[in-house]
Amino acid sequence: MMNFYVMTLFPEMIRQGMQTSILGRAMEKGILSMEALDIRDYTENKHGKVDDYPYGGGAGMLMQAQPVFACHRKVLEKTGAADGKPVRTIYLTPQGKPFRQKMAAELAKEEHLIFLCGHYEGIDERVLEEIVTDYVSIGDYVLTGGELPAMVMMDAIARLVPGVLHNGLSADFETFHNDLLEYPQYSRPEEWHGKRVPDVLLSGDHRKVEEWRLEQSVRRTGENRPDLYEKYQRKQQYIRSMLKKGKALYIDIIENLRRGKGEIIEASEAGILVKDEAAEVCMIAVFDEARAEEVAGWVLREGNMAKMAGWQFVVHQECLLAPLKQLLPVQRCLPVYQAVYTQRNAVPVPKNVEICVLGTEWLEEVMAHYSMTDDWAYMEERLQSGELFGAFVDGRLAGFAGVHAEGSLGMLEVYVEYRRKGIGRALESFLINRHLSMGYTPYGNVVEGNGVSLALQEKMGLCVSKQLLYWVSLKT
Ligand code: ADE
Repeated sequence: MMNFYVMTLFPEMIRQGMQTSILGRAMEKGILSMEALDIRDYTENKHGKVDDYPYGGGAGMLMQAQPVFACHRKVLEKTGAADGKPVRTIYLTPQGKPFRQKMAAELAKEEHLIFLCGHYEGIDERVLEEIVTDYVSIGDYVLTGGELPAMVMMDAIARLVPGVLHNGLSADFETFHNDLLEYPQYSRPEEWHGKRVPDVLLSGDHRKVEEWRLEQSVRRTGENRPDLYEKYQRKQQYIRSMLKKGKALYIDIIENLRRGKGEIIEASEAGILVKDEAAEVCMIAVFDEARAEEVAGWVLREGNMAKMAGWQFVVHQECLLAPLKQLLPVQRCLPVYQAVYTQRNAVPVPKNVEICVLGTEWLEEVMAHYSMTDDWAYMEERLQSGELFGAFVDGRLAGFAGVHAEGSLGMLEVYVEYRRKGIGRALESFLINRHLSMGYTPYGNVVEGNGVSLALQEKMGLCVSKQLLYWVSLKT
């Protein structure tokens, strides 16, 4: 659930702009709420004035501190946070940090967001200092007010809130998620104005279609966005080098980057550090073990460790553990093997098991059976994202499995009374096929000592890493 509050002198503009189509429907469904507050309603000036001349002279008028502050107090009251945790308050201004997809993804995780729209020549600095947490610009041009930028931001954020888009997948696939622009698309008729739809799209060959689309994306990006193109090429270079070093060991980093989830924070011949902001996971590997300390040191370069409380680190070499423990407040360290399905052909799924997506109504049941975590919020988020699947036998839930936020297959649990009946295999086969059909390479982790799961991976033809990786969680 996402709650937007917009502080503005033109509330009608926001209300009208936001009530249509997809966002309007999400509001009707109760997944989103949006309230536009008129700053003028909060002025103490008896003529309803909210602006005045700037000290020191200059063109135009400034919005005064008092009504803005009073309006903000009212919003805080509505969020129930009047004297608790600060609510992100975003001031739209060309002087702010550029708005990007990554920022949208980060803000989509909040429960309340407040937007402050300026008008005239701006707002008295003193009230900004007291209430604003984020200064954001939507681009290098100057608009007459912050209303359109606020609507742009709300649109980009809202479509990432689970349930807003019908197809849970589409937000993952499009432009910018992989540092590439989207490929051209075609619909009926096959020929229009003498132009035919490219043959490959009519061929029915899924792999060829994907290859063509990627090629087109890369070409367009090269032509229109040299900045993104360079980033993409650099990523490809590291992916190739990790594939050579060991597919099973590095598949998590490779897939995370390929799927456009994480970002390379630092990489060289010494190692690599990838951060997946949405999943709150960092992946770290050292390619030259003599330089483990240097590579571990990269985690501090990412600025504020306080913001990474509760994050997980996937540590790819044991020699990184000691230097990381010196730098990070480590809570738990779980040794795992990594298994990857390297073939392209789908695996058969047994017919006696029905597999379907689980909704949030299954949260309590799932938590009662899943032994690996007591993180309710995480499992609820997985259910909301449509990434947890249940196996039903005679209409009853017999087990479940799903896709973790950073992309690995896991959360596999088969209820005791249903074990040794091929249910785990059915769930894993289903997930493997699903990922293959999305063009992904399926992979997952097996906790050291879980012989049953390791045997299953090998029986199903997955390659298991020779060395251990370590899932390190930080204190909350
Ligand atoms: N207000 C005026 N222009 C703006 C911009 N480009 N981004 C955000 N807020 C603005």
